[in-house]
Amino acid sequence: MILPTVMFNMLGTHQPRFMVLLFLSIQILTLRCTSITQELHTGFSATPEPSTPSFQPLLSDPTGNFSLGFLRVNGNQLALAILHVASSEPFWVANPTRAASWFDTTRLFFNGSLVLSDPETRVSWSTATNGDRAVLLNTSNLQVQTKGSPLWESFEFPTNTIVQGQNFTSKMSLLSSNGLYSLRLGNDYMGLYEGNKYLYWKRTVLETKAEVQEGKGPIYARVNPEGYLGMYQTNDEKPADVQKFNSFQQAVTAASFLFMRMEADGNLKAYYWDGSNWLTNYQAISETCELPRSCGSYGLCRPGGSGCSCLDNRTRFEAGGCFNDVGGELCGEEGIGRSKSDYWVLRRSGVEPPHKELLRHVTTPSLAECEQLCEKNCSCWGAVYNNGTGFCYMLENPIESMLGSGDESKVGYFKVKKGDREKNRVWVRVGIVITVLGMVGVIIVGMWFCVRRWKRRRVVKEEDWASPGPYKNLGSASFRSIEMSNSVE
Ligand SMILES: *[C@@H]1O[C@H](CO)[C@@H](O)[C@H](O)[C@H]1NC(C)=O
Ligand SMILES: *[C@@H]1O[C@H](CO)[C@@H](O)[C@H](O)[C@H]1NC(C)=O
Ligand SMILES: *[C@@H]1O[C@H](CO)[C@@H](O)[C@H](O)[C@H]1NC(C)=O
Ligand SMILES: *[C@@H]1O[C@H](CO)[C@@H](O)[C@H](O)[C@H]1NC(C)=O
Ligand SMILES: *[C@@H]1O[C@H](CO)[C@@H](O)[C@H](O)[C@H]1NC(C)=O
Ligand SMILES: *[C@@H]1O[C@H](CO)[C@@H](O)[C@H](O)[C@H]1NC(C)=O
Ligand SMILES: *[C@@H]1O[C@H](CO)[C@@H](O)[C@H](O)[C@H]1NC(C)=O
Repeated sequence: MILPTVMFNMLGTHQPRFMVLLFLSIQILTLRCTSITQELHTGFSATPEPSTPSFQPLLSDPTGNFSLGFLRVNGNQLALAILHVASSEPFWVANPTRAASWFDTTRLFFNGSLVLSDPETRVSWSTATNGDRAVLLNTSNLQVQTKGSPLWESFEFPTNTIVQGQNFTSKMSLLSSNGLYSLRLGNDYMGLYEGNKYLYWKRTVLETKAEVQEGKGPIYARVNPEGYLGMYQTNDEKPADVQKFNSFQQAVTAASFLFMRMEADGNLKAYYWDGSNWLTNYQAISETCELPRSCGSYGLCRPGGSGCSCLDNRTRFEAGGCFNDVGGELCGEEGIGRSKSDYWVLRRSGVEPPHKELLRHVTTPSLAECEQLCEKNCSCWGAVYNNGTGFCYMLENPIESMLGSGDESKVGYFKVKKGDREKNRVWVRVGIVITVLGMVGVIIVGMWFCVRRWKRRRVVKEEDWASPGPYKNLGSASFRSIEMSNSVE
């Protein structure tokens, strides 16, 4: 473990000795592949090995529990990641939106900044610092330091995960790996969002131990090793809110560890390391039907695990949604509503929107008035009316899964955008009608000409050759036009 550290310290000053040490340390590294360096200094450079199956460690924390290295993703792509070694669980990725390639032109180096460069895919990521070393702390936090104090740390740039002890502030967000869902903090709450604006889960601080006060700065959140997610406003360590995990107040041991992740299904989960496995310790949304896309678009989810069907009872449920070509906008350019013919209306009773407490609602005296409000407004995708309370819930996003409530007094009104295919079909039909009409017209005109000629022929037979046939008419017309142009000159 010490040799590689020495090796990078000596770089640049004792070249020949460095080469010997390098040779030795490479031998040691290949013999004991767990001995990974614990510090990166100026001159450090690494490229991915073609033979690495999944992870090539480059920097280790003092305990050996965590490692920074090249992670192979989707076959030949490369991510610079921090992994929990025993489980290969990635906690952090340098550049989650763009992967580099697993190719020898890709390079990680340290020159005061930690830099990942890949001329092939033009991926370039850098800490943009001027430090003297990079270290991985025993918390899994990667730091670029100068004289021992951090200039940059990975804890400030979380991807989809925060680990115990890591501060999650209002400037940060956790983004699910598919980019669909995020966790963010508000003034006095934390929320889960779909596509940046649609809030589908919210936890407001309960202020049992400390109050959130205006002007005292934004709140932040932290996973506590004692088994809860705390929300804080000041740094006096008294949380303004506590969300307990299953491991709440269980003895904290050196072997245990916690992390929290924004999952790709839209849930927020926490996990507990019991020394050999990650156990689910907390989930923000415990009922599957409450997940934003539990049954896809225009799906109907019945709580209690009885599965998915479609809001339209004539459509068979298929994974991913009930209609093709949905999504997009109902409002045309400049907010002007499209015509009614761009969508059709689906009604279904016994349904309820998930997270209805987070939806805008108005009170209307009847279902018809509720539907009308939605029909008139092109930013409304649907409305659900509760006949008991008179609440009319407005759905302002493309329709995702609804809950089956079994209560027939709750009625849903949903706009279904006509897909391109349906529109095409309409145009094909219009085309056929035009063609048929055209052909009928040609036949009628043709018959009219035939009848006229036949009549004229009879006249010609009677009056001999003075026939004013079409050719002669045309001739006389052109003659007239020539006469006219002559007169103009
Ligand atoms: C480190 O390398 C990067 C990329 O080549 C460069 O932009 C940066 O200026 C360098 N930093 C220092 C301190 O030399
Ligand atoms: C992690 O490092 C800190 C100091 O850097 C130390 O106090 C603590 O005991 C270490 N924890 C573990 C689990 O090694
Ligand atoms: C988190 O914030 C608290 C309070 O500001 C601070 O004491 C602590 O050092 C921070 N932790 C990390 C890992 O930055
Ligand atoms: C860290 O290493 C220690 C000692 O090997 C082990 O007991 C503990 O479970 C590890 N922690 C994690 C989070 O892997
Ligand atoms: C489908 O729903 C409509 C209207 O709610 C209802 O009249 C019809 O009987 C239902 N069809 C089936 C097959 O359930
Ligand atoms: C239409 O709906 C949007 C979103 O629900 C709302 O902000 C807007 O005020 C509504 N417009 C009218 C004219 O009601
Ligand atoms: C709605 O409520 C009214 C009176 O409150 C009642 O007459 C009507 O039958 C109800 N409709 C449904 C569908 O439950």
